[in-house]
Amino acid sequence: MTEKRLKRIGLLTGGGDCPGLNAVIRGVAKPAIQDHGITVVGIEDGFEGFVEGRMRELSRTDVSGIIGLGGTILGTSNKGDPFHYPIEGINGIEIVDASQKLMKHYKGWGLDCLIATGGDGTMHISKKLGELGMNIIGVPKTIDNDLDATDQTFGFDTACSIASEAIDRLHTTGSSHHRVMVIEVMGRYAGWIALMAGIAGGADIILIPEIPFKWSAVFQRVIERSTRGNRFSIVCVAEGAKAADEEVVIKETDIKRTDPIRFGGIGEHVAQRISEETGLETRCTVLGHLQRGGSPTAYDRVLATRFGTKAVELAIEGKFGHMVSLRGTHVSSVPIAEAVAKQRLVSRDGEIIRSARAVGMGFGDED
Ligand code: F6P
Repeated sequence: MTEKRLKRIGLLTGGGDCPGLNAVIRGVAKPAIQDHGITVVGIEDGFEGFVEGRMRELSRTDVSGIIGLGGTILGTSNKGDPFHYPIEGINGIEIVDASQKLMKHYKGWGLDCLIATGGDGTMHISKKLGELGMNIIGVPKTIDNDLDATDQTFGFDTACSIASEAIDRLHTTGSSHHRVMVIEVMGRYAGWIALMAGIAGGADIILIPEIPFKWSAVFQRVIERSTRGNRFSIVCVAEGAKAADEEVVIKETDIKRTDPIRFGGIGEHVAQRISEETGLETRCTVLGHLQRGGSPTAYDRVLATRFGTKAVELAIEGKFGHMVSLRGTHVSSVPIAEAVAKQRLVSRDGEIIRSARAVGMGFGDED
């Protein structure tokens, strides 16, 4: 498609909110409207709003002054998979295929393409919509950093900064009260936030899904520190971490969600077991949505801006079915199919883990 023929772009943000989404919206809308005379149609609340036809044209004023704002001015939802769409039926929630309804809105609004910003759920949906004939460009976002086809997603840097600051603050109470302080951070099946925040915050033990842990190793490390005279310990636990002989701890399952599993509870479980087995006073803090709330870091603002402007370039070049991607320091693109093929997980024998071990951090797998 040539620049002339591209007249109307749809734009949505899907999945959980994430610091930097507004910077992407701005990064798409400013060049599209100002430099290319393209109309940008903002879709409310992700794919849910698309199925329901809730959308509006964005003006330059709408996207001014939003680079530092957290959340998304368009709203988002993690419940609106059009191919697996929950509706209220006579016998409760029914799951239907609402993709044709969505396609009707796509055509009805005269869209030439859709720029979909989201995590792996959004990219899976985007791939399927591409197969139905929609012109799609993906923009990867997630604090979890678990998309394999990009070296980093925006939102991750902010989440790590917030989590490492939280660990700094927990040191205060830990050292004053001589307690074991457990902090549970997000990340789903990936341990990136726990690993990076744990290293940055100087945690003593980091538990991540990629390294199932042994309870004995966790207790031993805490006791060793205590007998050495270190009268407190910090344990940073990823929500998806699990003991080798146990299942992951889940808060709830909800079939309306694109990913039905909602993690939560491993931090409290770890704190309870440490307290019971070592006799040391232990507290648990669940950082929760503070990790993705508020203003993005400078790094995330810049990355999100680059992703947004690149998405417009790809749309103009007609490079549909591609997702924007960071490779090294360069922003390029990969086919969406490639982007959803594999999750990006921490390599358990990788350089980052070795570095953390070298400065004395434990991962609960030591003999
Ligand atoms: O994918 C981002 C994320 O924050 C995960 O780290 C977390 O498991 C999940 O979303 C929480 O989802 P919700 O906001 O729906 O509780």
